[in-house]
Amino acid sequence: KLIYVLNGPNLNLLGTRQPEVYGHETLADVQAMVEEKADEFGLEIEFFQSNHEGVLVEKIHEAREKAAGIIINPAAYTHTSVAILDALNTFEAPVVEVHISNVHKREAFRHHSYVSVRADGVIAGLGTRGYLAALDYLAHRLG
Ligand code: DQA
Repeated sequence: KLIYVLNGPNLNLLGTRQPEVYGHETLADVQAMVEEKADEFGLEIEFFQSNHEGVLVEKIHEAREKAAGIIINPAAYTHTSVAILDALNTFEAPVVEVHISNVHKREAFRHHSYVSVRADGVIAGLGTRGYLAALDYLAHRLG
């Protein structure tokens, strides 16, 4: 089974971007960690990042045909994107929303998520381990 791990804007800068908030690991480190864990579960990973809303929408469309689940860190689009919510609403398998930081501890504008309207589960504040928690959930849910 194939899991899509989708990352939104500015996450390509992970490791150098506000490390006091997001830590020192790079997105490549996260990818390696997720792929290693997926291997243990016998799952395949399509790992993807874009700074463009429409590109993420189209990747979700692609997932409709290919993925058994989606892990998504929509980054800033979490708080703005009805388009990403609408795309996820066309996807029938499980969706887990991940945030590296605890968005609820931060500015009020980060407290609302359009994606949470669709997500089966939401993880925030566990750092990059949140991706592994999401994968663990999907592995068990998908059997
Ligand atoms: C984030 C939290 C968002 O509010 C922010 O815009 C991000 C990253 C996180 O992983 O903690 O870019 O999704």
